Amino acid sequence: MDALTQFKEAQKQGWAHFLPLETITTPAAAKLVRFAGLGEGQQVLDVACGTGVVAVTAARAGARVTGLDLTPELLQRARENAELAGVEIEWHEGDVEQLPFPDCSFEVVFSQFGHMFAPRPDVAIAEMLRVLKPGGTIAFSTWPPELLIGRLFALVVHYAPPPPEVAPPPLWGDPNIIRERLGSAVKEIVFDRERMQVAALSPAHSRVMMERAGPMIKLVEKLSRENPADLDLFRREYEALVAQYLEANIVHQDYLMTRAIKI
Ligand SMILES: C[S@@+](CC[C@H](N)C(=O)[O-])C[C@H]1O[C@@H](n2cnc3c(N)ncnc32)[C@H](O)[C@@H]1O
Repeated sequence: MDALTQFKEAQKQGWAHFLPLETITTPAAAKLVRFAGLGEGQQVLDVACGTGVVAVTAARAGARVTGLDLTPELLQRARENAELAGVEIEWHEGDVEQLPFPDCSFEVVFSQFGHMFAPRPDVAIAEMLRVLKPGGTIAFSTWPPELLIGRLFALVVHYAPPPPEVAPPPLWGDPNIIRERLGSAVKEIVFDRERMQVAALSPAHSRVMMERAGPMIKLVEKLSRENPADLDLFRREYEALVAQYLEANIVHQDYLMTRAIKI
């Protein structure tokens, strides 16, 4: 197995624990759908859909929706979410770097904190734009490198460096880099900032929530097995960082939304 395939397998195992965090990304989904200016009856793709929060929101707004994700455990939950919400969505297990759809299939392509985790940004964005119709909208939410989640990524990478082929996900939160990556394939790029508010009684509560419900599980397992002293250090640094963004029992996790029109 090559390094990228191994990396994606490890990602899949980490993301399998993401389910409890869907309550946090649910309000952000409504913001992204509104930001994209979604129209009724439009054909929509939600890449890296996870438990389907954007897909279900778009379907409830009248769109015809397809969701795709790497992680089967999350797609199982996505199916349950769609059924509970009373909407029909087509689900695919797959990779944003190799989308199983013909060129120009969709009028809107969404990604909420999703394609930013693909190791090769140029491949992921080329695929997302390939399946989008000319005149269609691409809209995504990403974590900027200079804000809390971007800084937490940098901390995690310090303790568990990925293979060199993997681009840092928070670069997708930098407007200059986004402009470069979208290139001449799009027009009318618009950025906006939003704030995710996550309740936490203390920095340790925030840390424990993230350690139990996402890819951080893998890092904690690794450090507790190989280097418990580093695990203590990691936890202290994590809490010190979160403390800077915790006010009145709310952790402020600001992020960037981007939309553009395919030429
Ligand atoms: C932070 S979660 C976001 C999930 C969902 N979009 C939301 O807002 O709740 C990141 C998602 O990206 C998916 N993912 C990571 N790498 C991927 C890839 N190469 N192709 C497709 N999905 C991927 C994970 O399985 C996970 O569901």
